[in-house]
Amino acid sequence: MRKNILLISLIFLAVVLTLGVPVAGWASTKEVKPASPDLIPLPVKVESRSGVFKLKSSTMLISADAYKDITELFAAMIKTPTGYSLVRSNHGKDGIYFNINSTYNKLIGEEGYVLDVKPSGISIQANKPAGLFYGIQTLMQLLPGAIERSVKTDGKSWTIPCVKITDYPRFAWRGLMLDVSRHFFPKELVKKYINQLAKYKMNVFHWHLTDDQGWRIEIRSLPKLVGVGAWRAPRMGLWWTRKPQGAGEMASYGGYYTQEEVKEIVAYAAERFVTILPEIDVPGHSLAALAAYPELSCTGGPFTVNVGNTFPDKKENALCPGNEQSFEFMDKVIGEVAALFPGRYIHIGGDECDKGAWKDCAKCKKRMETEKLKTVEELQSYFIKRMEKMVQARGKKLMGWDEILEGGLAPEATVMSWRGMQGGIDAAKMNHHVVMTPADNCYLDLYQGEPAVEPATYSMLRLRNCYDFDPVPKEVLNPALILGGQGNLWTESVPNYRHAEYMTWPRAFALAEALWSPKEQKNWGNFIPRMESNMARYDFSNTNYARSVFDPLIRPVKDSVNKTFQIALDTELKNLELYYTFDGTYPDRFSAVYKGPLSIPTGADLFRVLTYRNGKPIGRMISVSIKDLEKRLEK
Ligand code: ACM
Ligand code: ZN
Repeated sequence: MRKNILLISLIFLAVVLTLGVPVAGWASTKEVKPASPDLIPLPVKVESRSGVFKLKSSTMLISADAYKDITELFAAMIKTPTGYSLVRSNHGKDGIYFNINSTYNKLIGEEGYVLDVKPSGISIQANKPAGLFYGIQTLMQLLPGAIERSVKTDGKSWTIPCVKITDYPRFAWRGLMLDVSRHFFPKELVKKYINQLAKYKMNVFHWHLTDDQGWRIEIRSLPKLVGVGAWRAPRMGLWWTRKPQGAGEMASYGGYYTQEEVKEIVAYAAERFVTILPEIDVPGHSLAALAAYPELSCTGGPFTVNVGNTFPDKKENALCPGNEQSFEFMDKVIGEVAALFPGRYIHIGGDECDKGAWKDCAKCKKRMETEKLKTVEELQSYFIKRMEKMVQARGKKLMGWDEILEGGLAPEATVMSWRGMQGGIDAAKMNHHVVMTPADNCYLDLYQGEPAVEPATYSMLRLRNCYDFDPVPKEVLNPALILGGQGNLWTESVPNYRHAEYMTWPRAFALAEALWSPKEQKNWGNFIPRMESNMARYDFSNTNYARSVFDPLIRPVKDSVNKTFQIALDTELKNLELYYTFDGTYPDRFSAVYKGPLSIPTGADLFRVLTYRNGKPIGRMISVSIKDLEKRLEK
């Protein structure tokens, strides 16, 4: 992704670090403890009742045989931490009822539920099994956090507060994307990611399966795709400064999913009401495929799988649309992909295609002549339109990044808008469906806090930017065309799964709420305590998450009078105290407290700051050299 926007982003980061993000308004938002339980996403309606329901080893699970699987999924979720093996039955008293409505309840729709917890029993009512599943997720969040543990917790009282919840989603498309090309995450970790997103009522897992740095899905008719394309030279260090694979060096880093593994993951996702959106990113971002089949390029290669992002070099990485073999290749790929994934859509990428090689290629020129295409953008559009025919021939719909608008949109394509909302707005004006995932709200690979203490990446996407995401801009007159939105985790700078979790949560809590909860009910102040409560649940489940929201951003500024450089601090949360030092010592709550922009004492070379809340340290110790801060100001 994003080689084109990397430079823009680096400039943006410099601006953010210099001028700061507009957090003053955020910090003043009222933070109120919610009266109702700490649920994410916030349900549509919560009516508190008095009393509790006590889950016991004798509690019956009552459901019709048709919903046995989902009932047993709940039993399995609670079995280890409670030690209870709850029994399911068709009839019973004083238990947990899982009911599908005999008359369709229009209010709650396809995925909604009504959860009623009384001391004498619990009922979950829904129109469809998906609603039962989401009712179960809410029930899990109502249980004590220890229910998330993967070991038995003795002596615990498993109580659920009495409450009636009526709930349904704002959008049908609530997704997270994981890039498994830049770094590979094996099957079990992919399942873990899916399980986690489903707990927060997300229902699409966008699987970015191919890119310049690795082809990750077995295509049986094209064995070299994984034989060659799934492997690159191992590298650490900053993504955009990596040395290419050397002559004779082994391509030993990588991996791929066999078709059997894909089927297993698809079934696992389906049990959790998650649809998988497979992405095969073409015609650009195809270096891994070209390493395997160089004859599909304009120049013929040879190529090696990319070890990092070559930005700002322009390197050939696109299939040749002048060559009929490229289409034969894609027909095989799409045929096998369509057979593996039951979802409605196949994503064919279409983003950031470097068309440089096309301009000098005799086959491409010939294609442009015969098809009467005036620009290389029209040539890409020709390619995508042929992809759409292939996808449709398998009974599926094509989705692509917003670059597929360039040169003319394929007739029935759905647009995934990432370079802001504009692509989505333009597509909706043409009556096409849209999934919104603007980088400014949804790119989970970006910094989420002060870069001095965050693992290296670029640009900035704070939690609040995710929380404020609204997929329906005012320019869209028919909101029904906006299917929803998703967060995207590109993994150039995500070398392991713990870090994938760190980058995802809690920003995906905020996105889950933006995509499920009624817009009018969203409230940043009320979200924060619910987020903290869910972070505590993650401590029980050993799921990683970032606490960056508790850190300040350090913002070098110029004093307007003396033109000297000063340090300003911004926080996303209110009620934080910031203690700092300039003398190299560690600050604590007896150090100087931040009240406004700070002048640099003569000779000081290190700034340290630590956040407290209610007299307790809550953020990370941030240490940054004055020289580095000055450099930020220069940018
Ligand atoms: C993208 O980030 N290139 C879709
Ligand atoms: Zn060509």
